[in-house]
Parts: sequence; structure tokens; C-alpha cells
Amino acid sequence: MACAQTGSGKTAAFLLPILQQLMADGVAASQFSELQEPEVIIVAPTRELISQIYLEARKFAYGTCVRPVVVYGGVSTGYQIRDLCRGCNVLCGTPGRLLDMINRGKVGLTKLRYFVLDEADRMLDMGFEPDMRRLLGSPGIPTKEDRQTLMFSATYPEEIQNLAAAFLKEDYLFLAVGMVGGACSDVQQEFVEVTKFSKKEKLLEVLKVTDKQISLDREQREREQALADFRSGKCPVLVATSVAARGLDIPDVQHVVNFDLPNNIDEYVHRIGRTGRCGNIGRAVSFFDPEKDGQLAQSLIAILSTAQQTVPSWLEESAFSGPGSASPAMKGFGATDLRKSRSFQKNDINQPTAQSAAEEEEDWG
Ligand SMILES: Nc1ncnc2c1ncn2[C@@H]1O[C@H](COP(=O)(O)OP(=O)(O)OP(=O)(O)O)[C@@H](O)[C@H]1O
Ligand SMILES: [Mg+2]
Repeated sequence: MACAQTGSGKTAAFLLPILQQLMADGVAASQFSELQEPEVIIVAPTRELISQIYLEARKFAYGTCVRPVVVYGGVSTGYQIRDLCRGCNVLCGTPGRLLDMINRGKVGLTKLRYFVLDEADRMLDMGFEPDMRRLLGSPGIPTKEDRQTLMFSATYPEEIQNLAAAFLKEDYLFLAVGMVGGACSDVQQEFVEVTKFSKKEKLLEVLKVTDKQISLDREQREREQALADFRSGKCPVLVATSVAARGLDIPDVQHVVNFDLPNNIDEYVHRIGRTGRCGNIGRAVSFFDPEKDGQLAQSLIAILSTAQQTVPSWLEESAFSGPGSASPAMKGFGATDLRKSRSFQKNDINQPTAQSAAEEEEDWG
């Protein structure tokens, strides 16, 4: 279980040793076989992220006998199955589509040596946990003592750590670089106090560019195009839901704007981590509406202080007088009455983005 801040290079930290080990031990050539039995499976919560990991794997494995393949939902399975059949040692996938491939008899897990969960806390939260149980309970899969299970993230809530132990070896290693759950100190964090009516105006002030905006609320193909246009610099602004909160590594992102703050502090840490990566400096501006975001104030102050950032005095005031001040430890649903959180999920449109991303993944298979 490994924890290091956003943008610090966790992808290479799991890919390189695994590829090196596969090359040292040799891999079986399984070209044109109907059933592929990869030595490595990597899972991540979003299609965009798993595509990025796949491209990194392909880059590092270039010119070797190790063959990475990617599968994810939202696009037709036909091409992915044909690609799989050409041979697969490292299978990168989102959980829904991976399970689909296993159920279709295209992927077998008997040769699995390494199982990697990127954004592990997200992969084990209530949105994805059932899928992970299904995956790790697939027929023929080596037991947790006979395979290596690796988990990577910048955040690890306690309750998720308890859950994770069930999938790891008895004496698993916990490796933390820096502060678990801390924000990257290369991101300058700013807060603007707003009301829901003044947000739009403030956004325009911050952006000063309002044209060429693109959105991730689209078909999968359009989503990938939007991201590609942003990556290449063709579009200077990317408007996205929390689907883009984690893992995406886009060079030269200078600015992250939290138009709506998430209702979970870990999600905030991941979002602002899209900038200030790999030693570069970044800036994050968040619109804080005391009426709506009050419950986040105390956690935000903790994050700001540990990242050596200035805490606005009005934010401190909000932390001690706002609606969340009675439950300072509230983080996700962990500290709330379960019955309340159940009705909260059903009725509140601001339900955790974590949950909606998983549902979306399921929708698309
Ligand atoms: N040793 C290195 N030297 C230079 N650049 C590196 C090195 N290792 C990784 N990088 C680069 O750092 C950037 C961030 O890496 P990566 O996406 O793996 O971060 P991460 O820790 O997974 O962050 P997140 O928590 O946001 O997913 C990438 O562009 C990667 O190519
Ligand atoms: Mg990452």
C-alpha cells in the first residue's frame, strides 16, 4: 500500500519494477489465443485514466516482448477483444469492462502475478468495492498470498485501509512518502468567498477567457476528443466533472478552478493535484460558499496548514461557526449517521462524485 502526493510519479513507481521483473523472468507468448491470461492486471476508476496508464505501459514496454492491452467501457467491445487476442501480458482496465471480458471467457486469471489498484482508495470505496470483490474472487485467481497486490493513491481514508487489508498479504508493506492525504505543496491554494449567485461572475473574473470551453459531459468518443484537445493546447480550458479529478497527468496545467467544491476533502486534494505536478508550480482557486461548503472548512484548514499555505481568516471563522462545526471529523460518510447518509444520497443532487463516477462506469459496462 503506497501513498505519495499527487504528481509525484506513482505510475512509473509501479510500472517500471513490474515490467523489469516480467522481462527478467520471461513472459509466455500467447498470440492468437482465444483466452488471454495476463501476468499483470491494472485497474483505475475512469476510462481516461486507464488509457493514460496504458499509454505509459506501452511506452515503457516498447521494443520488449511484454504486450500491454487496454479495455474500458463506453466503446464497442469488438475491437478490444481482437486486440486482446493478439496477446496480452499487462491488462489495463476499468472494473466493469474487465469483468465483462472475464465473463465472456476472453480473460483468465490463473497466471496473474501482479494486481495493481491505482487510485486504490477510490477503487475500494462503496462505488467500486463490489466490482473489486468480484474481480479478486474470479475463478482460478491466485490467492492473495500467491500474488502481489499493489495499491497506490495520494489519499487513504482509514476505513478504506481497513477494507484494503482483506486483499493484501498478511504482512503487507505500507509505504508513505510525505503526509498521507496531504496536498502537494507546489500548488498555491486560494479561496474566494462566494454566494451561489455570485459564482458565475467570479469565474469570469478568474478565467478571463470564456471561449473555446469544452466539457466532459459527453459521449465517450467526444470526451476523449475534448481531453485530447486540452492536452494538445488546442482548447485552453477544460470544463469537467469529478471524472477528471484523479490521476490525469496533463503537462502545463497552470490553474485548477473549483467552481463547486467537492463534499469530500480527499477529492479536493486530488482535484487540485491536476496542477503543480512533477516539481512544477501550480495554482488552484476554489469558490467557497459558507452556506453549502461549511462542513469542509475544518478539513480545508488542516490541508492548507500542512501544505504551508495561508489560511484566510474568514475561512477560519466559517470553520467555527458554519454548519459543519458540530461535526469537525466529518469526512465522506464515515462520521455521519448511516440512515441519514442513505437518505442524503437519494435526495441530494450533490451526492459524492465518487459514487456517480462508479455508477457511470457501470452504466457503460
Ligand atoms: N523520475 C522522474 N523524472 C521526471 N519526471 C517524472 C519521473 N517520474 C515521473 N515523472 C513524471 O511526473 C508526472 C507525474 O507522474 P504520475 O502521473 O505518475 O503522478 P502520480 O503520483 O500518479 O499523481 P496522481 O496522484 O495525481 O495520480 C508524469 O508526467 C511523469 O512522466
Ligand atoms: Mg497517478
